[in-house]
Amino acid sequence: MEKIINEAIQGSTLTVEKNNGKRKLFIESYGCQMNFSDSEIVASILAKEGFDTTHLLEEADLVLVNTCSIREKAELTVRKRLEKYNSVKKINPGMKIGVLGCMAERLKSKFLEEEKMVDLVVGPDAYKDLPNLIEEIDAGRNAVNVILSKDETYGDISPVRLQSNGVSAFVSITRGCDNMCTFCVVPFTRGRERSRDPQSILSEIEDLVAKGFKEITLLGQNVDSFLWYGGGLKKDFEKASDFQKATAVNFAKLLDMVAQKFQSTRLRFTTSNPQDMTIDVIKVMAKHDNICKYIHLPIQSGSNRILKAMNRLHTREEYFTLIDTIKEYIPDCAISQDIITGFPTETEEDHQDTLSLMDYVKYDYGFMFAYSERPGTLAERKLDDDIPLEVKKRRLAEIIDKQRAHSEYRHRSFIGKTVEVLIEKESKKSDRHWSGRTTQNTVVVFPKEHYQIGDFVMVRIDECTSATLLGKASPSALKGETFTCTLKA
Ligand code: 5AD
Ligand code: SF4
Repeated sequence: MEKIINEAIQGSTLTVEKNNGKRKLFIESYGCQMNFSDSEIVASILAKEGFDTTHLLEEADLVLVNTCSIREKAELTVRKRLEKYNSVKKINPGMKIGVLGCMAERLKSKFLEEEKMVDLVVGPDAYKDLPNLIEEIDAGRNAVNVILSKDETYGDISPVRLQSNGVSAFVSITRGCDNMCTFCVVPFTRGRERSRDPQSILSEIEDLVAKGFKEITLLGQNVDSFLWYGGGLKKDFEKASDFQKATAVNFAKLLDMVAQKFQSTRLRFTTSNPQDMTIDVIKVMAKHDNICKYIHLPIQSGSNRILKAMNRLHTREEYFTLIDTIKEYIPDCAISQDIITGFPTETEEDHQDTLSLMDYVKYDYGFMFAYSERPGTLAERKLDDDIPLEVKKRRLAEIIDKQRAHSEYRHRSFIGKTVEVLIEKESKKSDRHWSGRTTQNTVVVFPKEHYQIGDFVMVRIDECTSATLLGKASPSALKGETFTCTLKA
């Protein structure tokens, strides 16, 4: 399961300036956090090849775009960017252009044949081959590597942190997805599920903590499915030796290990898949104060019939049981959703089921999408995309309206409470205010006073919108000075 953070506009551009006549790399990322994280791996691999990064497209020797295929709109955005790069290439003909990520994997060499817009195509498991591929394009030949791997996790690469606020960082723990939801292109573009060696995860976090990072998000398409038994695909676990099975580390164990070892660091994880989330994970969350009380738990539809057609492998009732269990162990846990509206054959009744499911859960946040048919998926091969766009749009609007009301309801419940906030950056709307997040992942804006980015501050909440809490730091509000009130109180 992937979280798309802003498929329309967000590019991750690098800010390290050129020196010593080194070649310059401009890299942009679209789509999920995994792409942003992968771009940091790519920047690290290319730094060893003598590439410095630049935020100026016009001066780049190599332009790379890390792409998303999850919805058609995401691909259209990338195509527009490729047109832009090519217009700059007319002025700077030495510039080479490469496509990374899911679109590279999906379209493979078609990109070179049909589009004539790129020199280099590299799939998500082939980034270590970049040095060879760049030699090829330097020699004037196009280069492609879209081979998916059984064991590549990039666990041995130390990512270059791009656009970092120095406070929060992502650490990838699994790659690929075995779930085969019928609407989703990810299993085809990112391959089968494999997990990263826990030791390399711990050392990456250790390094981040030493550099002053305060919040780590463990990242994967389906983190709850994490399973390390010495390497290899998740689906091959059955063939592992008795010793490997006995010493295997699942997600609950990994989370416990990380939380235990880095007690002053906030931990988050994303994304969770309902059928793979275990009671053990919930218990570990409840046990450690430093694990944030927030779960992104996509549901996609509230109708059992549609869930089945989506191959979601759980029912609406099982989802409710999971929600009830989470709330039983962690009463203040925030929960967010992904919902797709207008999946093939979706009736008004199915749509009402989604709305009533939302009423039951009252999600804190949500990410809602109209169904977009993706080539090669089971849904595309077997089902007609038969819900008219107007109907998809109307249902989506109803879902978004409901989510807005629920977010506001959840946010109101914080008014009058004092919550711990990790300051991340200046508020976009005011240079006199900080912006940070609570353990529930809710954004809080409050006057700066003498506090600094990276501080944990106790903030009393006075007002809210559907997206943000507004408040003021309590007297002696630095965590550790008083720390008298938390949401659990
Ligand atoms: N159409 C619309 N939304 C999709 N998602 C995945 N595939 C599609 C699709 N074909 C959504 C799901 C997933 C999120 C990352 O993107 O809700 O959880
Ligand atoms: Fe998420 Fe399902 Fe796609 Fe896997 S197949 S990434 S679980 S939506």
